[in-house]
Amino acid sequence: MKMLLSSLLAALPLASALHKPYPAEAPGVLNPLGLGQDPAPVKWHNTSSGQDVYLFPDINFGKLVYLRVSSNLSEVQYDESNNHTIYTFADNIATEAPDLSQLADGKWVMYISAVSINTIFVIQSDTTDPLGSWTTYGNVRHNGQDIVGYDAHGLNLPNGDRYLVWSTSFHAPPSISIIKLQNITDAVPGTPLSAIVTPTEYYEMNEIPNGNYTYPGHPCCNAPVVEAPSSWVINNTINLGYASNWYADATYNTLITTATLGSDLLDPSSWTKSPYNPILHSNFFSYTYGPGSGGFFTGPDNDVWFAYGATNNASGFTGGPNIRTVRAQKMGYDHQGRILMTTPVNATRPIPGSNYTDYPSS
Ligand SMILES: *[C@@H]1O[C@H](CO)[C@@H](O)[C@H](O)[C@H]1NC(C)=O
Ligand SMILES: *[C@@H]1O[C@H](CO)[C@@H](O)[C@H](O)[C@H]1NC(C)=O
Ligand SMILES: *[C@@H]1O[C@H](CO)[C@@H](O)[C@H](O)[C@H]1NC(C)=O
Ligand SMILES: *[C@@H]1O[C@H](CO)[C@@H](O)[C@H](O)[C@H]1NC(C)=O
Ligand SMILES: *[C@@H]1O[C@H](CO)[C@@H](O)[C@H](O)[C@H]1NC(C)=O
Ligand SMILES: *[C@@H]1O[C@H](CO)[C@@H](O)[C@H](O)[C@H]1NC(C)=O
Ligand SMILES: *[C@@H]1O[C@H](CO)[C@@H](O)[C@H](O)[C@H]1NC(C)=O
Ligand SMILES: *[C@@H]1O[C@H](CO)[C@@H](O)[C@H](O)[C@H]1NC(C)=O
Ligand SMILES: *[C@@H]1O[C@H](CO)[C@@H](O)[C@H](O)[C@H]1NC(C)=O
Repeated sequence: MKMLLSSLLAALPLASALHKPYPAEAPGVLNPLGLGQDPAPVKWHNTSSGQDVYLFPDINFGKLVYLRVSSNLSEVQYDESNNHTIYTFADNIATEAPDLSQLADGKWVMYISAVSINTIFVIQSDTTDPLGSWTTYGNVRHNGQDIVGYDAHGLNLPNGDRYLVWSTSFHAPPSISIIKLQNITDAVPGTPLSAIVTPTEYYEMNEIPNGNYTYPGHPCCNAPVVEAPSSWVINNTINLGYASNWYADATYNTLITTATLGSDLLDPSSWTKSPYNPILHSNFFSYTYGPGSGGFFTGPDNDVWFAYGATNNASGFTGGPNIRTVRAQKMGYDHQGRILMTTPVNATRPIPGSNYTDYPSS
């Protein structure tokens, strides 16, 4: 008995270190940040104004692309006067999930899903100010073909190498795919397009109810979904975040797969799903359901934060109004630079509007 107890105790520190969630904290910030979904924030030092600002790209699911800008993270998504229309597409392409990053020359690039035609559009700023004018450069291509899918994210490495990751769920076998970019629109000729995440674990295998997903080898109907990639590099570790399951219900969650800088990122075997998965999932005690589709960014304390969408309603919102809000919180990481599992913050700030009955009233 004594021996059994001591061997149990010896085994405990490892197990609890692995499974103890990082505390839910967002020091100095009011949650939820505001209405919306699919945040992909960037903190940027605007040398013209001498201010650090949070940039949150946004869309209207039509022709428009917005940028929300504020030096105050609690206000960037909450105060509508921070919202600026920066680009209007000629056609209604059903804009979705814009992703923002800055290039080596200081210009900005956005990858925007065109959900009506299931491909990715590229716009680039004409100057280093993301509130200046922007130009479209068409679609992302691999070997001259428009890529198929949605939720694109620019994965930019410290050495300047640039990749694009996106979801192929719904119209092709569900995966997060990757290409290596030679410029903002085109993959490096002759390099592969690889699926680096496919659903394999029980928490990423919840088939979409009432789905109709037809693709080669899968004539109809339900299938799992992996989508919304994001990334953050800590020392030698590339953390690639993604979401799985149906975005409108409580099974929607956030996961990580990692690779080491210097490895071949186009080789699926370079990527390993995190032992901390899912790093963020529904939590009854903090009234957070379906936390997912977010972006890592530098927070107010200059360390890594994650912004994501979620609802306060355990029933989600399938068939009802879109009641998602955006939340942001601090993330922890281990000595290898792997993002830890965390508990969602309690999003208690009142949200105006008749559809937000599950938030405290103002
Ligand atoms: C940067 O600062 C300049 C000067 O104050 C201002 O005109 C511009 O709108 C700012 N850009 C952003 C993205 O904050
Ligand atoms: C940021 O905005 C929040 C909400 O409006 C406000 O309470 C807080 O004082 C602001 N912080 C700063 C530094 O202005
Ligand atoms: C953002 O601002 C534009 C005006 O620039 C407005 O038309 C649009 O409705 C706003 N979007 C949201 C989501 O509030
Ligand atoms: C990227 O490279 C391709 C292939 O060389 C070229 O056709 C395309 O115009 C380039 N795109 C941009 C935005 O420069
Ligand atoms: C699935 O979609 C196909 C093509 O749009 C349609 O013909 C079929 O009836 C749909 N099946 C179901 C079960 O909704
Ligand atoms: C979350 O906020 C609600 C509403 O203010 C409160 O009733 C609840 O106790 C809070 N839960 C936690 C875990 O703080
Ligand atoms: C509430 O949801 C209904 C149904 O989706 C929608 O028609 C209405 O515009 C929403 N109201 C607000 C204030 O967003
Ligand atoms: C990253 O490396 C630096 C030294 O190069 C070290 O000080 C720091 O603790 C490392 N961070 C992590 C998260 O491993
Ligand atoms: C939660 O969602 C369900 C299903 O859409 C709805 O019937 C219910 O009124 C919502 N609860 C609150 C408090 O809004």
